[in-house]
Amino acid sequence: MYKFVIEGGIPLKGEVAVSGSKNAALPILCSSILSDGICRYTNIPRLKDIDTIIKLLSILGVEIKMDENNVVSVNPGRIKAFEAPYELVKSMRASILILGPLLARYKQAKVSLPGGCAIGVRPIDLHLKALIKMGADIDVSHGYVLAKTSGLKGERIIFDKPTVGGTENIMMAATLAKGTTVIEGAAREPEIKDLADALNGMGARIEGAGESTVVIEGVDSLSGVEHRVIPDRIEAGTFMAAAAITGGLVEIKGVNVNHLAAVVEKLKEMGVGIVEKGDASVYVDGRGGVGPIDVETAPYPGFPTDMQAQIMALACVANGASSITENIFENRFMHVPELMRMGAQLEEKGNTVLVKGISRLQGASVMATDLRASASLVLAGLNAKGRTELRRIYHLERGYEDLDGKLRMLGAGIERQVGGI
Ligand code: EPZ
Repeated sequence: MYKFVIEGGIPLKGEVAVSGSKNAALPILCSSILSDGICRYTNIPRLKDIDTIIKLLSILGVEIKMDENNVVSVNPGRIKAFEAPYELVKSMRASILILGPLLARYKQAKVSLPGGCAIGVRPIDLHLKALIKMGADIDVSHGYVLAKTSGLKGERIIFDKPTVGGTENIMMAATLAKGTTVIEGAAREPEIKDLADALNGMGARIEGAGESTVVIEGVDSLSGVEHRVIPDRIEAGTFMAAAAITGGLVEIKGVNVNHLAAVVEKLKEMGVGIVEKGDASVYVDGRGGVGPIDVETAPYPGFPTDMQAQIMALACVANGASSITENIFENRFMHVPELMRMGAQLEEKGNTVLVKGISRLQGASVMATDLRASASLVLAGLNAKGRTELRRIYHLERGYEDLDGKLRMLGAGIERQVGGI
């Protein structure tokens, strides 16, 4: 087990480059199952979740490897196995994203139910209902989804609420279905548009990805592709919050600010200086401190739930009272008791947390529980007076490439050490 040891109070200074998007790379790697040819993906982040999906695809018989330049080469060949085992799926629920591609190309799949995770039950009912409508026979038994089809057919799919994974699974399934599929009420996250760009590069015919209506015209087969994954908007937002919470001045490079409009707007409202530079870089100036903010998470283009914990950490040291409301997941406040151990004045009221800003947090020993909660505790430690020890950082290493190394480059007093239960 590893922990982070953080000496807080150092304003971050300098420049940091954002890695490729975890939440774009995961579905894009799964989409290689659909291909007849070699796929080459660049700007893939070096993360535990990426290792997991590479292991899963290897188990299916896909030839896949990641080189030292963050390039993943895939030769899907003829897949010989069609099962995603519980051990892998429970460690990373995005494994469910092989369901659509396996059904579309091989007409069968056996995927463990993802089960819940720290932030909520996270069902996949919307995925399954849509696949059944497209002609899949689906049986859920003994903790597994058993799916088969004589051939998927294009259908009109209406999601009664936006689901990122559901939109991705159906979009991938529809690429090889007979006829045209229209997804209404599709999720609009940039990662969905990036997946569609990769699929269209393989010869798919997808229009409208990134909007709430997506049209996919089925084709007979898909070729190989070379695709560069978009930057990770949540990592970029996390570094923006880090500059703000330490009163620093940071240049974040290789970021698509358009993917973060709702976050930038809220940070500016709090008094953070954010100036876009031409070449996909943005200056973040936190030297003036921050004022309070009211935030409600919402599907894209609203404020992302994946930035909720991070902006809460920042609100803890704002000069005034803030409110943070989580509308996407039912249990995404695991960071609240840990932040309170650091002196944060927080009060949970249903799916809202009321924050009374204080001048500075206090270092403490705290526990990571899920990916973004861990990030918020790192931010809190960077601000806090004294030493913070963050345990169980394996949660964090699922979704941030070399976070401590990048923060040290910005002057942070953070070390990764063995220890911590
Ligand atoms: C994706 O998860 C992201 N993960 C999550 O990021 C992100 O928080 C989430 O989208 C929302 O933006 C990846 O892209 C790998 P959803 P996903 O389906 O697809 C409910 C991170 O920190 N729902 O959009 O699982 C669900 O319970 C992770 O990087 C159903 O009810 O999210 C949730 O309340 C965490 N039935 C809401 O919809 C379904 O069939 C949104 O879930 C599917 C979802």
